[in-house]
Amino acid sequence: MSAHKEPSNQGYDAVYQEFDSPLQRDLRREAYGKDIGQHSWVTAEELEQDIARLQIPSTSRVLDLGCGPAGPLTFIVAQTNCHGTGVDFSVPAVVSGQARAKSQALETRIALQQADLNDPLPFATNSFDAVISLDVILHLCDRAKVFQEVARVLAPEGRFLFTDAGVIAGPISSGQIRHRALHGYTQFAPAGFNERVLEQAGFRVLETADRTPSLLKNATGRLTARLAHQQELEQLEGKEGLESQQQYLETIINLAQKRALLRMMYLAKKV
Ligand SMILES: C[S@@+](CC[C@H](N)C(=O)[O-])C[C@H]1O[C@@H](n2cnc3c(N)ncnc32)[C@H](O)[C@@H]1O
Repeated sequence: MSAHKEPSNQGYDAVYQEFDSPLQRDLRREAYGKDIGQHSWVTAEELEQDIARLQIPSTSRVLDLGCGPAGPLTFIVAQTNCHGTGVDFSVPAVVSGQARAKSQALETRIALQQADLNDPLPFATNSFDAVISLDVILHLCDRAKVFQEVARVLAPEGRFLFTDAGVIAGPISSGQIRHRALHGYTQFAPAGFNERVLEQAGFRVLETADRTPSLLKNATGRLTARLAHQQELEQLEGKEGLESQQQYLETIINLAQKRALLRMMYLAKKV
């Protein structure tokens, strides 16, 4: 067992077991406009801009931490022809991601593996040119250690881009925290904290951006799509499951509207 005390998130497994069903594909298309197999707040348009930020030629080795079913990673590899490696705690996510890569004839360029990001990364020093992590950091117990590990596996001057949808900027109640933490272990950090920890881990922060408006749009889209498919979802999730998903999305929307909880993007360079 790893040294950290908190259990790693298994709350995503149920979602990923159903991830490729026609219903889930419809929900993603209705919520995001384009279904790229994401299970985060990222859209295809946002990812295209992030690819430019990361400066990824076809020779690049890109690591995605908490890749889920590898939708964003597959999108990046398809756009740039780079080599992609993805890690996620969820076995159903890895299985779904491998099928996605194969369905796009990218299985020789994408390698996925199950691992717990609360443990040291299972990669040699200097093995990647870019690292991404989309809406995952809030699930990890010690981000200072994770950033140090990212710095270790990145080549000199390598870039690290991540998003954090748990940046506190206003008051949040205990009930809101409970609803927001639906998927399991969740850590909220104050504004400015990620920047400090990145610098302590050997990064220079190149850019930050507030992505709360797009989170608000996508969460509202997800809630609207779910309400339109309520009957099918109730059969699948049960009444309780349906309600907790609804409370989760309503809480995210409410906190984003009040700007109490922000989704931020950080781009940093290993110095
Ligand atoms: C919001 S999802 C984002 C998935 C993916 N990045 C995307 O954009 O589609 C968060 C992911 O973090 C993964 N995760 C949570 N805790 C983890 C851990 N300790 N180790 C590895 N992965 C973890 C979950 O399994 C889940 O796939």
